[in-house]
Amino acid sequence: MDMLQLSCSQIAIALLLFTQVKSTTEETFAQYPNGTLTKCITGERSALLAFREGLSDRANLLSSWKGDDCCRWKGVYCSKRTGHVVSLDLQGTHRGSGNGIAQVLAGNISSSLLGLQHMRYLDLSRNRFDKIEVPEFMGSFHKLRYLDLSFSWFIGRIPPQLGNLSNLRYLNLEASYQGPGYFLPYSTDINWLSRLTSLEHLDMTGINLSTIAHWLPVVNMLPTLKVLRLSACQLRSSPDSLPLSNLTSLETLDLMGNDFHKRSTPNWFWDLTSLKHLDISFTGLYGPFPDEIGNITSIVELELSRNNLVGMIPSNMKNLCNLEKLGYYRNNINGSITELFHRLPSCSVNKLQLLNLPDCNLTGSLPTTLVEPLSNLTWLDLSDNKLTGHVPFWIGELTKLRTLYLNSNSMDGVMHEGHFSGLDMLKDLVLSDNSITITASSTWVPPFSLALIHLGSCQLGPKFPTWLRWQTQVFSLDISNTSITDMVPDWFWIAASSVQFLNIRNNQITGVLPLTMEFMSGEEVDFSSNKLTGPIPKLPMNLTRLDLSRNNVVGPLPSDFGAPGLRTLLLYNNTISGAIPASLCKLRSLELLDLSRNNLNGSITDCLVNELSTNMTGLSIVNLSLRNNNLSGGFPSLLQKCPQLIFLDLEDNHFLGTLPAWIGEKLSSLSFLRLRSNMFYGHIPVELMKLVNLQFLDLAYNNISGSIPRSIVNCTGMTQTRHISYDAFTSQFRFDENELVDYTENFMVLTKGQERLYTGEIIYMVNLDLSCNSLTGGIPTEISALVELKNLNLSWNNFNGKIPENIGSLLQVESLDLSQNYLSGEIPSSLSALTSLSHLNLSYNNLSGKIPTGNQLQTLEDLASIYIGNPGLCGPPLLSKCSSQPEPIPGNHADASNDAVSFYLGMGYGYVMGLWVVFCTFLFKRKWRVSWYSLYDQAYAQVAVTWASFRGKTNG
Ligand SMILES: *[C@@H]1O[C@H](CO)[C@@H](O)[C@H](O)[C@H]1NC(C)=O
Ligand SMILES: *[C@@H]1O[C@H](CO)[C@@H](O)[C@H](O)[C@H]1NC(C)=O
Ligand SMILES: *[C@@H]1O[C@H](CO)[C@@H](O)[C@H](O)[C@H]1NC(C)=O
Ligand SMILES: *[C@@H]1O[C@H](CO)[C@@H](O)[C@H](O)[C@H]1NC(C)=O
Repeated sequence: MDMLQLSCSQIAIALLLFTQVKSTTEETFAQYPNGTLTKCITGERSALLAFREGLSDRANLLSSWKGDDCCRWKGVYCSKRTGHVVSLDLQGTHRGSGNGIAQVLAGNISSSLLGLQHMRYLDLSRNRFDKIEVPEFMGSFHKLRYLDLSFSWFIGRIPPQLGNLSNLRYLNLEASYQGPGYFLPYSTDINWLSRLTSLEHLDMTGINLSTIAHWLPVVNMLPTLKVLRLSACQLRSSPDSLPLSNLTSLETLDLMGNDFHKRSTPNWFWDLTSLKHLDISFTGLYGPFPDEIGNITSIVELELSRNNLVGMIPSNMKNLCNLEKLGYYRNNINGSITELFHRLPSCSVNKLQLLNLPDCNLTGSLPTTLVEPLSNLTWLDLSDNKLTGHVPFWIGELTKLRTLYLNSNSMDGVMHEGHFSGLDMLKDLVLSDNSITITASSTWVPPFSLALIHLGSCQLGPKFPTWLRWQTQVFSLDISNTSITDMVPDWFWIAASSVQFLNIRNNQITGVLPLTMEFMSGEEVDFSSNKLTGPIPKLPMNLTRLDLSRNNVVGPLPSDFGAPGLRTLLLYNNTISGAIPASLCKLRSLELLDLSRNNLNGSITDCLVNELSTNMTGLSIVNLSLRNNNLSGGFPSLLQKCPQLIFLDLEDNHFLGTLPAWIGEKLSSLSFLRLRSNMFYGHIPVELMKLVNLQFLDLAYNNISGSIPRSIVNCTGMTQTRHISYDAFTSQFRFDENELVDYTENFMVLTKGQERLYTGEIIYMVNLDLSCNSLTGGIPTEISALVELKNLNLSWNNFNGKIPENIGSLLQVESLDLSQNYLSGEIPSSLSALTSLSHLNLSYNNLSGKIPTGNQLQTLEDLASIYIGNPGLCGPPLLSKCSSQPEPIPGNHADASNDAVSFYLGMGYGYVMGLWVVFCTFLFKRKWRVSWYSLYDQAYAQVAVTWASFRGKTNG
């Protein structure tokens, strides 16, 4: 739906009325540039000046409004005979929503305008009268025939005084949503409309009329109405019939986007047999495609899209000899395309311009021949159906065709030059997501020059398709996943230099990125998953998104990226080396940067002061991943300049030193912090707990000492459910109110002893992993307040004391690992309340007493290994029975190894030993370990358990 565009007919009528007003009366309104015949009337001149006084005219649109003769001012037209201002045409340039650099007037509309009592034509449309209502005095221009206030950001009530404009022929109040905080104008009583008895054109699109039940009788008081647009008015009722219809002249009826939610028939509008344009799309109609359509023989344009209509188009459609456009998008035809073609009116087949039938459950193959050629067809959209078979040859005979969408079907077969032979006018070719093979000789020069080429998942390769060479006007090109295993030819970079959206993802394309890349027009470029190599050149000026991940890109990052507006830069899984250059600081708009799995090294230099001096707010980075590189130095102080950071991953580098206290203040939005597998030491700074949004903290495999700060309970990210929503339009997740996380497809988390790939769902992961450090002291009881945790891993530290009594409040926990510490005392019975638990490890501690039972605890896998290495424990699943006396607790874990062996008798001894050796090796060679377990996640899980079972604390 596109409410934002003024339709051609609307413009035509506006022009028509304008010229009518100007010429049908005895007066002539032409402007007299030198004013010899007309002289402006002084009072009207003052009225205009006072009107201008109230406006804000930043674009200087009214700069010509000076001098005595107001009839020479821009937009002002006077009567030749009387000298009165009869027309004021101050249309701005707003197009629907969006701001842009609009040439608009704003401010207030002064009532001094009332001095222009002879006005017949007033157009203030497409300006920005933000936060004001349509003034009531608009109803006092008694001679007004034409009033256009559309798209001018008016708010509030439409004044009923407009009903006094009894000469009005044309009234346009169309409004469209202008973004958050903008409330569309409304009317709760439209009886004033019935007094506009000369009205021919009424457009109230977007005005909230939701409280008006009986709107149709009011509209029916307007017998001269030709055009009625009440689209998106939140109307809820559409009567079955209109017994005494006055609307016999109605040619255009647009009710799109109201919520009638009723059966398609009976409905009053089917009796309007004079209609030429009918739009009842998106109105919640259900039932069959109505037979009644067969009686509206004058119909030219029929738009029924996005309803819940079911079944084939009716056979009496063949009466519709004037039909030019049929829109039926997203209804359930659920029948054969051949039958549909058969039922199209053959008397108008050469008039048919537009067939818009995507997502209709059309089945079968397109007919192989056509009885009558669709010689006027400009638009054919059959995408998202269930079509099978080949693309027929007659497609190539549609000489007027501009738009062809056949994507997302199950079509196959080969298309070659012949299928395109007559398509001189074609602009948009979209065949993606079929099994179509496109072959053309390497010398073929296509007859068309396309703007949009989407062939994703078709078969174009293995050779690079040479015909693309001639397509130099392309704006969007998608040849992703098309089996091209070829070197990218030099001409491609030239042809592609006009392309703004370029996607060659997932082929086996080799070659280097061109040095001239900076001169390309690319805005969103996806080269990922190919075999491109060479260094990264300076990037295109307008680039906002670049995905070069999963290639063989080498060399250092550019010292000048270009692309000042770059927002997303994905370079993971390449072989980029060298340091992270300070040029990064120039990418002020960069929000998402993923450099993981490269060979970057060195410490991260801070931005030079002068690079940031003009931008006090620092960098825009929200999401930063530098995981799996060889970066070194302290915790990067550059990050102090990234106040918007939500997601930070430095896993598996050589970062060293203490964690700075400023993290808690400078990175106040941080929600995900992963510093795993580095060489950080020192305490967990208490300031870190100022990060209230923190929900993912992974400090595992460092050398952190000291205790867990009790203030960890301040991290509401772990204690409270966050409101997370997904915006399908921008494919972004939204946290709480405003923050946006543009999440990548590249995030692995180690949980439940396995590394799992998270995509967007990572934002639901609440994790505290402090394993493999030197943390001491007790596990603070506050831990049990972190009720949103899904993963809690404190293993391989020096924690002592008891397991907090109410650990059972962590109801979301799926994986709990407290193994390899010095925890003592009994296992709290609340543990059995952890109903989400699927992985538990308490092994190698000093726990004693009876093992709690019940609920989930009984269903865990490998029960015995959970408790191994705690000689004081008794009861099932262990073999040792609990005596009435508490058992003496052995002082040394090493004594437990016999227990361990006894549990592992069930496993092949050689298998266990073999894995043990592997694990030992990589415990001491960190780098190896990481790459090893990321390759063999499953095996790692096994090894970790096995190894843990054999290793006494004394060995650690
Ligand atoms: C006014 O403009 C008209 C048309 O451009 C021209 O014919 C006429 O001579 C002009 N008169 C003066 C006084 O400049
Ligand atoms: C038809 O329009 C005329 C003129 O406004 C009005 O008087 C009459 O009541 C209308 N008829 C119906 C049935 O509303
Ligand atoms: C078409 O119009 C005729 C004559 O007005 C009427 O008898 C018939 O019922 C209409 N058909 C449909 C399907 O409404
Ligand atoms: C197509 O058919 C399927 C299954 O019959 C149904 O779920 C779906 O809603 C239909 N599509 C449309 C657009 O009605």
